[in-house]
Amino acid sequence: MIVFLIGFMGSGKSFYAKGLSGFLHIPFVDLDQFIEKEHGMTISEIFEKMGEPSFRQLESSAIKQVYADIITGTPESQKKNDILGIISCGGGTPCFNENMEWMNLHGLTVWINPPEDIIVERLVKEKTTRPLLASLSASALRNFIHEKMVERKPYYEKAKSMISNPNIPIDEFINTIQHAKNLF
Ligand code: S3P
Repeated sequence: MIVFLIGFMGSGKSFYAKGLSGFLHIPFVDLDQFIEKEHGMTISEIFEKMGEPSFRQLESSAIKQVYADIITGTPESQKKNDILGIISCGGGTPCFNENMEWMNLHGLTVWINPPEDIIVERLVKEKTTRPLLASLSASALRNFIHEKMVERKPYYEKAKSMISNPNIPIDEFINTIQHAKNLF
């Protein structure tokens, strides 16, 4: 089984993907980093040169490719029962091209959902690397995050499991995933 970590920018997807990967000795792939490597451009450059709709197409293809790379050659029984890899998605991945439905069919989706204030606090510090946020002032950023969160929640809510404790230790995170495994 593949675990798909989803959630808003700044929710901690990459952090937990790395932690889980180290703890469970399984590979993790950060979807944005995979796309950057494949296309030899940063996410900001892709947005700038190709536009968001093209980025969303690349993102949808990337998720399928990364999944296939991890899962190829695995016996059927293990595909269902063992955690074989972690994919850390971009914040918008579940909200385009029916990616959320695809992920729910192909693995265990886990929504990392810390309180909005914590997301704002983190993104104020890191906004320059994110094309959707880079040009916003701190107060515009707060509104933008709130509006986007409202818009995206219906997609995130389709996840099979949710973690809302922003400081959850890795071992507890793993326990939650192990308990949620039968939801896939
Ligand atoms: C985006 C989130 C980013 C990246 C791109 C668009 C979004 O990923 O995919 O900038 O639409 O929320 P992170 O959530 O890893 O920052």
